[in-house]
Amino acid sequence: MRNELIDPFHRKIEYVRVSVTDLCNYRCGYCMPEQGVHPDGHHKEYLSYEELARIIKAFVNLGVSKIRLTGGEPLVRKRLHELVEMIKPYEGLEDIALSTNAHHLGREAEALVKAGVNRCNISIDSLRPKRFENITRGGDLEKVLAGVDKALEVGMKPVKFNMVVMKGTNDDEIEAMVDYGIEKGVEVRFIETMPIGPAGVSMMDQHYAAEKILKRVKAHVGADLIPSTDRSDAGPARNFKISGTNARIGVISAVSNHFCDTCNRVRLTARGVLALCLGQEDSVDLRTPLRDGISDEELEQLIIKAIAKKPERHFFRENVHNIEFRQMVQLGG
Ligand code: GTP
Ligand code: 5AD
Ligand code: SF4
Repeated sequence: MRNELIDPFHRKIEYVRVSVTDLCNYRCGYCMPEQGVHPDGHHKEYLSYEELARIIKAFVNLGVSKIRLTGGEPLVRKRLHELVEMIKPYEGLEDIALSTNAHHLGREAEALVKAGVNRCNISIDSLRPKRFENITRGGDLEKVLAGVDKALEVGMKPVKFNMVVMKGTNDDEIEAMVDYGIEKGVEVRFIETMPIGPAGVSMMDQHYAAEKILKRVKAHVGADLIPSTDRSDAGPARNFKISGTNARIGVISAVSNHFCDTCNRVRLTARGVLALCLGQEDSVDLRTPLRDGISDEELEQLIIKAIAKKPERHFFRENVHNIEFRQMVQLGG
């Protein structure tokens, strides 16, 4: 039997979100401040691909079957496919996914798929070029849409769209995103803004509740939304099939309806900190012991000990803004 990582609340940890950089070529307002985050340092601060692969291997040995590469923006890091090539052969690793803003995806998608990435989630908060540029503080919608087409062309499956819905900024595009998703055969997930880091907290006055989004989608498509019972959908999104079609949509409502009871994940930051919950500070530094030369077995023991500290849940509220410690860009979403 394979090893398993079970946390104190009987949850099986099988998914690690690996941030490969805390830099991004965009600057979405809910994710980082306008001036960006100023990474204090040198490239040595970041785990090398060899170090990342070693930690991923330890997790896979402990029963993790799903790795998601995130950032910042993961494709800002050069030759990401080389990391994918390193981890692809690990026995028990079934799913290598990517979360990206897709700016560089047109250029990188083919190499990534060849190396072993099977699927990707793409952030798109607006389909209007000027508005997209404002939300991302400089993003280029045309490049992103080309990245989407390339991901589909090279066979990433599924591709999903993530739209953070912000009242007064882009909530008038919910229907247009549903249509774009249907046109591309891609599931759209509508995300409530979360109060993570000062940037996330600063956007909470634009919070738009998932239930309202669902009502609007239902009215727009003129059909029922049938909740998914598919096990492979386990995760933060509540997924729905649009009745009478094959189209699917989802909502991620961490604030109005948390999903911590079934949390199956932890996060590794680009600087080698294992963050045990998106909304709590609990974390364990893996970089120092790794660079001090611990053995593979010691690394696994360190991970097992860390998982024993995973908190039960986060405590986001629509009107309580107390999660200020880390910016989302540093945590990888
Ligand atoms: P799938 O594996 O395709 O379901 O992707 P995912 O939803 O796990 O990952 P993605 O990177 O697309 O994240 C979508 C949204 O879900 C982002 O806003 C994330 O911050 C949020 N999210 C992912 N995992 C967690 C979590 O454990 N807790 C909270 N509160 N939000 C999460
Ligand atoms: N609230 C909700 N979602 C966020 N993301 C980044 N910051 C926030 C936030 N404060 C989303 C991005 C991306 C995903 C990885 O995380 O839009 O789709
Ligand atoms: Fe970059 Fe994604 Fe953060 Fe936007 S949400 S600044 S694209 S990492």
